[in-house]
Amino acid sequence: MAQHMQILDNALDAVGKTPLIRLDKIAQSHGLKCNLLGKAEFMSVGGSVKDRIAKAMVEAAEKDGILIPGQSVVIEPTSGNTGSLPLILLGVASIDTVFGHVGIGLALACAIKGYSVIITLPNKMSLEKEALLRALGAEVIRTPNVPHDSPESLISSVLSVARRLEKEIPGGVILDQYRNVNNPLAHEWTTGPEIIDAIVSTPSTPARPSSGKVDAIVAGAGTGGTVTGLSRAVRKHNKDCIVVGIDPKGSILALPEALNVEGAGSSYVVEGIGYDFIPDVLVQKEVDAWLKTEDDESFLAVQQLMRKEGLLVGGSSGSALSGALRWLKTEEGSKVASTPGANVVVVLPDGVRNYMSKPWFLKIAMESEPTPLREIIGKILQKEVPAEHNAPVPDVSTLSLKEHDLARL
Ligand SMILES: Cc1ncc(COP(=O)(O)O)c(C=O)c1O
Repeated sequence: MAQHMQILDNALDAVGKTPLIRLDKIAQSHGLKCNLLGKAEFMSVGGSVKDRIAKAMVEAAEKDGILIPGQSVVIEPTSGNTGSLPLILLGVASIDTVFGHVGIGLALACAIKGYSVIITLPNKMSLEKEALLRALGAEVIRTPNVPHDSPESLISSVLSVARRLEKEIPGGVILDQYRNVNNPLAHEWTTGPEIIDAIVSTPSTPARPSSGKVDAIVAGAGTGGTVTGLSRAVRKHNKDCIVVGIDPKGSILALPEALNVEGAGSSYVVEGIGYDFIPDVLVQKEVDAWLKTEDDESFLAVQQLMRKEGLLVGGSSGSALSGALRWLKTEEGSKVASTPGANVVVVLPDGVRNYMSKPWFLKIAMESEPTPLREIIGKILQKEVPAEHNAPVPDVSTLSLKEHDLARL
């Protein structure tokens, strides 16, 4: 029977409540006996796992009287992978540097609640992020791409600009996801319980056995709020659950520290995970095992998630899957991998929407191996060309179905 649906008060009620989806084809192709399950956070209303903390931080700030309707202006410095280092160096305690995703979640929450929002964004960030923020009614200020240790960054970085605005705009407030307890709490109270509920509510059957609990959970770390909050939630439910953290090469979030030596300081393309300092909300010891991932393996895993499972995810979802599959081959992981009914959850933090113009996505989308149909289509079209014209066969990779009446195929 269909589940009862209810009318929601507004879009904030559609934050989270994301599906947990079997990744059966990928599991099968890797010979896994366990259940491999993806928590599809791109199905949240703002398109990312970060919607949850944006909502939680705004609502908590309202409760604490920090955000006052009609008066407060939320100011958001939106940075890249290493963006918050200058703040740490400057000893600034209260400012947040974030990826576009929290910016989008915040702009969405503020649109609904009626707060003005200013987002400062480095020039290098994608146009689709700026467009989304503007579409949600945010003011977007682009700042030059200055190295965090340059004197110029003290004046013109996203952080300095946001700080100046916070000081001078009456009611200016910067929420700090690196220190804000509502970041991990949002995952302890919503993401984790949703995963547990889905697993507990799905009966074990001979065709689809289930241990009835979360046996392992794999999540990437940026601020670390997701992995820390999830760890706290799942341990209350199963104290033996193994929590696996994913950190890109070039970042320093993994433990033991020796793991971070290879590729130290190198840059990486995957967005949303990794830092060059340890955010306060990340409790590294809540994580049982850390794995380091690289860009190439992450994008390959994204392609698998798209082609095998129909999940249009972003790069950090690929990192989480790739790390999960490697962990399942370790001594500890292989015991889980070989247990029918063991539940391994991989957090898929966002969708491909924010990366549509990125070279890595265009490469896997447009330059991937042709399907077997390509050759068949080519042959059919060759036959259809009247001999007297003897025109060259069109490049089938660029054909549209309508133009060439291939719909009947
Ligand atoms: C796409 C994406 N994946 C993963 C994360 C990691 O989340 P957390 O900050 O909770 O560690 C982020 C954080 O910005 C993100 O944007």
